[in-house]
Amino acid sequence: MSAGRWAVRPAVWECDDEALRLIRFAVFVVEQRVPEELEWDGTDAACEHAIAEDGAGSPVGCGRLLPDGHIGRMAVLREWRGRGVGGAILERLVALARERGHAVARLNAQTHAMPFYESHGFVAVGDEFDEAGIPHRAMERALR
Ligand SMILES: CC(C)(COP(=O)(O)OP(=O)(O)OC[C@H]1O[C@@H](n2cnc3c(N)ncnc32)[C@H](O)[C@@H]1OP(=O)(O)O)[C@@H](O)C(=O)NCCC(=O)NCCS
Repeated sequence: MSAGRWAVRPAVWECDDEALRLIRFAVFVVEQRVPEELEWDGTDAACEHAIAEDGAGSPVGCGRLLPDGHIGRMAVLREWRGRGVGGAILERLVALARERGHAVARLNAQTHAMPFYESHGFVAVGDEFDEAGIPHRAMERALR
């Protein structure tokens, strides 16, 4: 692939944890100041992951699907945002949730990112709440 190209692939925590940690550390811990003990919540080994890589194979974005159908930890390195990487990761995880038999894909959106999720068919449910010091709303998308 040439410079500027990227692709999304499934990832497995046991094999890809270094790359997944690199993205999430840069985005959540450094950029958003989420405490590390909250970021590494012990559920990653049970999740299915998606990772986006640039043309040289370096990680640029990621996300995960929990066994209960919740999508989370959506992160794209700042310099790679606005090119469709996050959207491609999200759609991959939605497709995976559908394959796993979930009737609804759910996520807890940081409120600033709600327009991003709305553009992918998610609708807000319930009231705003705080998680890791960041305002969130629950959102969901029917899969059937
Ligand atoms: C949210 C995030 C994953 C989106 O990734 P991305 O690669 O920029 O997403 P895309 O390029 O596919 O789509 C971005 C689109 O969403 C829109 N959008 C609206 N609010 C946005 C927001 N707060 N952040 C990013 N995009 C937003 C953009 O305007 C853009 O629309 P356009 O394509 O019509 O211009 C990325 O911005 C990110 O990592 N943010 C920091 C971590 C974070 O907040 N994660 C979400 C936790 S719930």
